[in-house]
Amino acid sequence: MTNALLHPFSPPSMPERDFIDIVRGEGSLVYDAAGRDYVDGIANLWLCQIGHGRSEVIDAVTAQMRQIEAYNTFAPFTNGPAARVAEMIVERSPHPDGRVFLGCSGSEAVDTALKIARQFQQRRGQPDRQVIVRRTNGYHGTNFGGTSAQGIAPNREGWGDLVPHFIEVPHDDLEAAASVFAEHGDRIAAVLTEPVQGAGGVYPPVDGYLEGLRRLCDDNGALLILDEVICGFGRTGEWFGAQTFGVVPDLMTFAKGVTSGYQPLSGVILSRSVCDGFEEPGFLLRTGYTYSGHNASCAAGVANIQIIEDEGLVGRANHIGERLREGLTALEGDGLIESWRGMGGIYAAELGRDAISPRNTILEQGVIIRPMGTCLAICPPLVITDDEIGRIIDAMATALE
Ligand SMILES: Cc1ncc(COP(=O)(O)O)c(C=O)c1O
Repeated sequence: MTNALLHPFSPPSMPERDFIDIVRGEGSLVYDAAGRDYVDGIANLWLCQIGHGRSEVIDAVTAQMRQIEAYNTFAPFTNGPAARVAEMIVERSPHPDGRVFLGCSGSEAVDTALKIARQFQQRRGQPDRQVIVRRTNGYHGTNFGGTSAQGIAPNREGWGDLVPHFIEVPHDDLEAAASVFAEHGDRIAAVLTEPVQGAGGVYPPVDGYLEGLRRLCDDNGALLILDEVICGFGRTGEWFGAQTFGVVPDLMTFAKGVTSGYQPLSGVILSRSVCDGFEEPGFLLRTGYTYSGHNASCAAGVANIQIIEDEGLVGRANHIGERLREGLTALEGDGLIESWRGMGGIYAAELGRDAISPRNTILEQGVIIRPMGTCLAICPPLVITDDEIGRIIDAMATALE
């Protein structure tokens, strides 16, 4: 085996033979090349809501590819799956009269949302509004826009100059955000935030925080962008975090759970009032990707959303949350973890020490969860069984003992 593959967020010095080769998946289990099974406690990477190996999605994608694999959606072209998935997404969002821009990755969605926010401000005669307010611990992907929006400082370092005009605020401090608005309010294009911060350590918002950001944006002419790349499609117990936390953003990004990973798909939902800013006859939206509206990806999205709906997986986040909270509370009671945080179907167990070596011991017991600094993240498929949740908690207990 050669080392030709350079892995993302991995040490380039790690040889290919030391990686675990995942070859198959079924439900909440994945299997390596040696046939060993693992409970997928992180749903691939915060995304596989419907579980692995679902023939409904595989069949939908195959049927689409037999018709045509892909054709671009730049004017004058469109395709049925792209229009259909956009319709299904807005119907389930707080913006049933909004519109959806499609891409492939969360990073593309974030970059597009940032561009749309700035362009919206320009088009309404406010070209000086370029500032994007970001939060500490925020993770918004690794394109230049998303890298500039990162609140995880090491992810911003070493790449040279990033996109200018980002201001960081401490992640749950509304007063700090209010001070930034007091000082720079007429230059702020948008605030960018995850509903529950995910990759930065799983931090649900403190009570009133997102509503407070909404008010600050409203009072100062800024847009609120919710990055729903992890929270979207059922993770927080509603279709979107916006609904769970009762906040209506102007722009929402999504990716991951929209297809559960069966094909790459992402996008930005624009509220009706943002759309109004762009629908002037003669205006051309000069941004987009070859794969915006990719037929096979959109067919996967349609089939995946239908499964989430038919199987009631949105509500199931609360059920698996109850089981996980019980397990984590027991681990805390036994002194095996310092604390836990999270909600719906997304949690972090705080160890207070580096989490990589406990993660490796947990892996040896056939459970995949993700180390993030001093904590272990758990975010399983929404179809995970109680027994499989038990396997996650037992593996953690054994490893941490
Ligand atoms: C909130 C959030 N935004 C954006 C991204 C970037 O998505 P992608 O890795 O698909 O580019 C992620 C990825 O984890 C994310 O969690």
